[in-house]
Amino acid sequence: MHTDSGPTTPAAGIPTQIVIFGASGDLAARKLIPAIADNARFAAFRGPVQVIGVARTPMNSQQWRDELARSLTPAQAQVWPDLAPNLHYVPIGDSSLADYARLHETLDDLAGPLAGDVGRLFYLALKPSLFVPTVEALAAEGMLACDSLRLEGWRRVVVEKPFGTDLATAQWLNIVLRRHLREDQIYRIDHYLGKETVQNILAFRFENSIFEPIWSRQHIESVEINVCESLGMEAGRGAYYDTAGALRDMMANHMMQLMCLVAMEPPASLDAEAVRDEKVKVLRALEPFRDAHDVWTNSVRAQYARSPGETEAGYLQEQGVPLQSQTETFVAIRARVHNWRWAGVPFLLRTGKRLGKRFSSIVIRFRAPPADLFSGPAASQMARLRPNELVFRIQPEEGIRIGFQVKQPGPGHVMRTAALGFDYKDLFDGETPPPYQRLLLDAMHGNATLFIRGDEAEAAWKFADSIRSGWSAPGAPTPWTYEIGSMGPTQANALWHPHEGGWSQE
Ligand code: BG6
Repeated sequence: MHTDSGPTTPAAGIPTQIVIFGASGDLAARKLIPAIADNARFAAFRGPVQVIGVARTPMNSQQWRDELARSLTPAQAQVWPDLAPNLHYVPIGDSSLADYARLHETLDDLAGPLAGDVGRLFYLALKPSLFVPTVEALAAEGMLACDSLRLEGWRRVVVEKPFGTDLATAQWLNIVLRRHLREDQIYRIDHYLGKETVQNILAFRFENSIFEPIWSRQHIESVEINVCESLGMEAGRGAYYDTAGALRDMMANHMMQLMCLVAMEPPASLDAEAVRDEKVKVLRALEPFRDAHDVWTNSVRAQYARSPGETEAGYLQEQGVPLQSQTETFVAIRARVHNWRWAGVPFLLRTGKRLGKRFSSIVIRFRAPPADLFSGPAASQMARLRPNELVFRIQPEEGIRIGFQVKQPGPGHVMRTAALGFDYKDLFDGETPPPYQRLLLDAMHGNATLFIRGDEAEAAWKFADSIRSGWSAPGAPTPWTYEIGSMGPTQANALWHPHEGGWSQE
């Protein structure tokens, strides 16, 4: 998908400085620096790049580089000798204004005579409680101001997820950010939008004229979105996760974004504003739950539990998780998008940890033909229910599959389900670029199409909050439990109405 919105970067030759706050953390080592190395490897940067790591851990640049070198793949390691000298580490001490003044000076020194023209990307790979103080300190030191009419000397801020924990905190964060930055300087990241298979949803819908005419309630019976994970709490993550849960960690961002891409109207262009205008309309068209009872009927939350006789930790035995925790590690929702295109079509969303299979997919089920001429006794019940489905396999085994009915050779009319498929690995050789590689470049090029706008984040939280408030209403059922390695609690099956089929296995 071509989303570049024009000449928004200065001429080649002027350096860009990527300033990573939280430089000693996991995200920098596992995602950001490898993404920078890959962009260097594929000569994707338009000019020289300097990377300045900022964190409290006392160390020097060489120690930081040595630390980072451990996370590189052999291919990334090949460009490291050229890249490493452009990496610098600045310890931030107690984050006083004097520390920021020193950081400012270091950035100017590194830029040399081009300090006035250098573009600066401040990447907040920090815990959420540090977003506001960091932006305030950068603003107080005069590091965020830039002229919107000049291509050179730009200043942008990338904000990692979670963007708040509910509507009120997201609104507050937006207020603080907008106090010091224009919206076009703010890049709220959702790494799902950087996935190639996710970008392909729009390309598939709007570059192929055969699908759009049937992309509506007239032809589509249901939309299912899955992000199923087999991992649980990776080392040390339990304490953070327990404050979030699946609704906040996955549903309010990645899942809502996938839903928007499936449900949005064609944008006028691929410009950031045009695309985000359409996405936010979908979020605003999400039908609010009427009351707590409506939430209980249309959502299921659950926790993975240790099975009798098993030794594997259930959620409550994970490090950092309180024994009485009611935080959900699984959530499934039956949502309704109330607009002309989608009224009456259920959107079934499911995500969970420690499930039996890791896969992310979107399954579009088309309506059955009005008259059932062919289905003889041997035709499968499933095929009769939904003879055509379109599956976007987002990960792993990335691809697209369309299921349809064929007549089995022989007497009578016995139907079988067949499939047309496309696998990324068959059509495209080489590596699929990981999300951060693309998103970093887009932020450097001033292209915000694949980033979340402030109003979008707020609309998603509004919906998530309505579910959470149902869950905390008096009389709300406590979370169900599910076995590690299962596909979640059986109660989630009841979100499907009897004639609609059920959760997909791919
Ligand atoms: C993150 C969540 O945003 O996305 C994690 O915080 C989750 O809990 C991860 O595991 C999933 O991302 P991916 O790209 O592995 O599907």
